[in-house]
Amino acid sequence: MKRSIIITGGAGFIGSHVVRLFVNKYPEYRILCLDSLTYAGNLANLKDIEDKPNFRFVKMDICDFDSVLALMQEEKVDGVIHLAAESHVDRSIKDPFTFAKTNVLGTLSMLQAARLWWESLPEKYEGKRFYHISTDEVYGALEMTHPEGVKPPFSTRASSDHHLAYGEVFFTEDMKYQPHSPYSAAKASSDHFVRAFHDTYGLPTIVTNCSNNYGPYQFPEKLIPLFINNIRHRKPLPVYGKGENVRDWLYVEDHARAIDVIFHKGKVAETYNIGGFNEWKNIDVIKVLINTVDRLLGRPEGADIDLITFVTDRAGHDLRYAIDSRKLQKELGWEPSLQFEEGIEKTVRWYLDNQEWMDNVTSGDYQKYYDEMYKGR
Ligand code: NAD
Ligand code: DAU
Repeated sequence: MKRSIIITGGAGFIGSHVVRLFVNKYPEYRILCLDSLTYAGNLANLKDIEDKPNFRFVKMDICDFDSVLALMQEEKVDGVIHLAAESHVDRSIKDPFTFAKTNVLGTLSMLQAARLWWESLPEKYEGKRFYHISTDEVYGALEMTHPEGVKPPFSTRASSDHHLAYGEVFFTEDMKYQPHSPYSAAKASSDHFVRAFHDTYGLPTIVTNCSNNYGPYQFPEKLIPLFINNIRHRKPLPVYGKGENVRDWLYVEDHARAIDVIFHKGKVAETYNIGGFNEWKNIDVIKVLINTVDRLLGRPEGADIDLITFVTDRAGHDLRYAIDSRKLQKELGWEPSLQFEEGIEKTVRWYLDNQEWMDNVTSGDYQKYYDEMYKGR
């Protein structure tokens, strides 16, 4: 079946993996990557697919309602996968307004445009889908009742050799929303708008809440790419607090695969949590990164351990995230494919092999790519 799908935020980290997967896997679909190219958008993330006939890049702000609606009409859009957002917690602490504007008003603009466009058609919502990508941070922070870690109560194929849980409670789909940062408050608000559009207008929506992603093309302000680059260049590694906070890591291509399955087979009005039962304390992840970078660069393993520098904690720093993704696994058959150790090895290798990508990001040169390659296309 032919489809015309807008993927917002497709020049960012996760969005670029989703765009790549859809463009390559579904040549019969028209994939419209809508992105305003903020500091986090990088067209080099899409270089390998930019000439594919089923791909179109559109530089557009999701808050620009008139342009979004016109694009939907022009391209006869029947699906939206909405990832565009401000995504970095530390930035949200410094500048909450931008987060409210993009994440809340931008999502509202996408919802309203989809609603008006689809309601104008004879078949209305039939065959249509508005899929909103959200985060586990909306559920707030979990307690760490097992600081040393215990065997997780659930068995899953992909996790890691380390395979520990740091508490008994996990984020489930029916959990109360308790966001703590301006970022997660804005994402929570956008999730409420998505559900309100289903309940009020019947818009065929789906929401998913995923744990921390890692992998190629992540902007180096986030823990994993920042630290890989710093270890490579022997710069200090700023660990917030004592490094005891726990995050649940998922390889980005596994998230993209989940998005594919849910977009096609997920039930309208449902929520699915996405994660791989892969909890790690930050300090343990950092040690794995140091050992992996050192080994791959031919340095003695652990040679760079002294780069660890404990700094003032993040304000309101959530202690533990841990996703229960059994609903998705049971109902739609998705499972993560990679063990964390394999995923980290792949990721470190990618950043070491793609120093030019990293240099273009850190120098700001990546922002010239649109003018050089796309203007006038
Ligand atoms: P990112 O910051 O790497 O990319 C965001 C993209 O959105 C960029 O390309 C940026 O240019 C674009 N964008 C921002 N504001 C825009 C606007 N007003 N109009 C159009 N485009 C705009 O983000 P990411 O880490 O890839 O996250 C993508 C989505 O997934 C977000 O909604 C985030 O909340 C969610 N999420 C992220 C993670 C994670 O670990 N990174 C985990 C769970 C959920
Ligand atoms: O859980 C999903 C969320 O994961 C997504 O919704 C967010 O968009 C994404 O950015 C991520 O949020 P985190 O705040 O968990 O990710 P970050 O990479 O910023 O930080 C991971 C952990 O590492 C967190 O406990 C803070 C810590 N940290 C981070 C940085 C950048 C440090 O100790 N030092 C650092 O320099």
